[in-house]
Amino acid sequence: MEKTANTKYKINELIANRWSPHVLDSDQPISKLHILTMLEAASWAPSSHNVQPYRILVCDKYSNLNSHKKVIKSLDDINDKWAWCAPLYFVFFVKKDYTSDGELNLIPFYDTGAAAEHLCLQAIELGIYTRQMEGFYKDVIRQEFNVPEDWMPISIIATGYLGDYDKMDKIFSDKDNKPRTRKPLSEIAYEGTWDNPISTL
Ligand SMILES: Cc1cc2nc3c(=O)[nH]c(=O)nc-3n(C[C@H](O)[C@H](O)[C@H](O)COP(=O)(O)O)c2cc1C
Repeated sequence: MEKTANTKYKINELIANRWSPHVLDSDQPISKLHILTMLEAASWAPSSHNVQPYRILVCDKYSNLNSHKKVIKSLDDINDKWAWCAPLYFVFFVKKDYTSDGELNLIPFYDTGAAAEHLCLQAIELGIYTRQMEGFYKDVIRQEFNVPEDWMPISIIATGYLGDYDKMDKIFSDKDNKPRTRKPLSEIAYEGTWDNPISTL
């Protein structure tokens, strides 16, 4: 399975090599050292005013099976077909914050996404794979873990070593065998004025 990003410009190897499998090895634990290393990487993401407006709940099948089961209970009916195989979940929470106009401040969401991506890049450096998920029932997480009202569950990162595709439904090897793609830069980046596609080399 060739999953390295096929890029026009040479990019950092970790970024090119990170991808999100649906099949993780449920029988292979992740060491505490590696869990802490991934968390440390997340904590070194920049955040507005250096506030770090997130919390990360570690739910490890091997050190706290009950917490792992609670996460499985929260998965929606798409993610529960595959994400049970992750031996480890990181559940991310964002601190709710309001502007002086009473609007939800979106910057903590931006900061939390940066921390999550740092974690995923550190994981790949360790030979560990991640697939982030927004498809889960936030109220289940809230209830099962007794989460305070001012913290919002925002994503779950299924984490583990790459698993055996032969043990999973073929739909997942079909999905994961597809080449990874991205929009062209000219679609996502404008030069100087809105809607003016960046010219490429
Ligand atoms: C915030 C976020 C939410 C996601 N939610 C889900 C999800 O609920 N279920 C899922 O299977 N994949 C989910 N993904 C994985 C994306 O589909 C995947 O990252 C994307 O297709 C790009 O593939 P790549 O990570 O292999 O480059 C999510 C990714 C992100 C960043």
